Amino acid sequence: MTILKVAYASSLRHFLFSSRSYFNDHPTPLFLRFTMTTSHRFTAAEKRLINCNQVDVNQLMPLKYHWAWEHYQNGCANHWMPTEVPMTKDIETWRSNQLSDAERRVIMRNLGFFSTAESLVGNNLVLAIFKHVTNAECRQYLLRQAFEEAVHSHTFLYVVDSLGLDEGEVFNMYHEVPSIARKDAFETELTAEVLDPNFNTDTDEGAQALLKNLIGYYLIMEGVFFYTGFVMMLSFHRRNLMTGIGEQFQYILRDETIHLNFGIDLINGIKSENPHLWTEEFQDAMIERVKQAVELELDYAADCLPNGILGLNESMFRDYVQYVADRRLERIGLAKQYGSTNPFPWMSETMDLAKEKNFFETRVTEYQSAGSLSWD
Ligand SMILES: [Fe+2]
Ligand SMILES: [Fe+2]
Repeated sequence: MTILKVAYASSLRHFLFSSRSYFNDHPTPLFLRFTMTTSHRFTAAEKRLINCNQVDVNQLMPLKYHWAWEHYQNGCANHWMPTEVPMTKDIETWRSNQLSDAERRVIMRNLGFFSTAESLVGNNLVLAIFKHVTNAECRQYLLRQAFEEAVHSHTFLYVVDSLGLDEGEVFNMYHEVPSIARKDAFETELTAEVLDPNFNTDTDEGAQALLKNLIGYYLIMEGVFFYTGFVMMLSFHRRNLMTGIGEQFQYILRDETIHLNFGIDLINGIKSENPHLWTEEFQDAMIERVKQAVELELDYAADCLPNGILGLNESMFRDYVQYVADRRLERIGLAKQYGSTNPFPWMSETMDLAKEKNFFETRVTEYQSAGSLSWD
């Protein structure tokens, strides 16, 4: 073991030493620049959210962005696993004749949308955003969020398995159902832009494209597109139907509320450190994108609810999606566009309940933290 440690330390020293001279002669991607920083001890004030050339991204302390650390701690405090939620009642309901075809359609469409949307968000985080956010406490949160997206993907596998649904049908809706495919294409073009091998945030254009990605995923995907699904799925829970899925959606909603709040803090933080990026033209373009997203979401709601179901119809979603979009715009300092009122005031109560719910009191399994460390 000791020999291995020495070998590892020696190869790491070799990498750092040799890469330092290599990087002195070659342009380097920003995410690798930590190897070029000098060994001086920095102050928190030197940290930057993007394009940070002064501070080693491996040093979490001293903290500068306390909001990022708080979101990380809140995320950890909300830990849950989908398999801890019993599905027996849902299986009975799904196999019975208690649900109409219209209700089954709403449930299936939302399982189809979320099952792959969670993965799109996780991949965008890990492959696109992560390396351009040049701050240790934000990266700490992004790692936590990436795990939560994996837990959410796990939820849909567990639901499909429990109810005996056609996995091919659910996991291919993002190709095969146009109202879902259009929303996902609207997001994946943002991931592709940042994944371009020539992409960087050194130019204003590049930094604006990163902001556009953050707005597209945090505000639009997780902040608007997800909320229609939350209302639809939680409306069953309110009627005491599909309560296992309902409980899982409450936990997902609780996690997504933190994702959204982190995203807003990150966007506003980048704005305040780089005010020149926030031009009139850029603001108009972002408002326009939110308005396009609202139309895509209304098409999706109409597709889920062609004839409405108890307590939900297409026109209520016009108001709701517009109301939610206005709230999101205001959070990043953009003018609201619609002035609609919330037709689902119970959603706010559900969000408060989800926040207050003490998951640990109802936990049915114990984590094997002590046992798993025993190697004897
Ligand atoms: Fe998620
Ligand atoms: Fe999320």
